[in-house]
Amino acid sequence: MIAGWDIGNLEVGRRISYDVGANWKLIIENFMECYHCATIHPELTEVLPEFADGFAAQYFVGHGAEFAEEAQGFTVDGSAGVTVIPGVVAGHDRKYYAITVNPQVFINLVPDHVIFHRMYPVGPDRTVVECDWLYLPEVVRSGQDLDRSVELFHRVNQQDFDACERCQLAASSKAYAQGGVLVPSEHHIGAFHRWVTEQLTP
Ligand SMILES: [Fe+2]
Repeated sequence: MIAGWDIGNLEVGRRISYDVGANWKLIIENFMECYHCATIHPELTEVLPEFADGFAAQYFVGHGAEFAEEAQGFTVDGSAGVTVIPGVVAGHDRKYYAITVNPQVFINLVPDHVIFHRMYPVGPDRTVVECDWLYLPEVVRSGQDLDRSVELFHRVNQQDFDACERCQLAASSKAYAQGGVLVPSEHHIGAFHRWVTEQLTP
């Protein structure tokens, strides 16, 4: 399915780097669940109302979050976006998809662009996240205003990274030594914990 976005053919419309005061694994855990979305992402939940229900996660493989009826595009105010990527077929053209590629990449697919995160751990409590907004080459070269398009996920990034920094404050507690307590809807985060542990096992 992801092939339809032909990511290799897209160009960088905007790049923003974030210096986050949190361990990279907290950023992954945050990205893999969305029950926090209802409380910290007001702009995102306007465009993706199912995220306001307080229960969304990446373990529904292949599930895309439907745009709100009144949203014309994936923008900070729900206004129209830019030219839709031609390979995005009907059925995917009003949805948001999120993918985690272990260990350090997030890919977010919407009809007219791709938001592509890379994480670079620079310390146990600090991660640099580089985020690109990728569009069709003709969109980037036309000099179109991308601000409303970029602003939506830029705010999501700031809100998420702020939450991760607040979680980091208690992460050195002995209560967190085994990764904290997970609830049943976080079993995919448990799988991520096991994956990390396996990588560290000689
Ligand atoms: Fe979030």
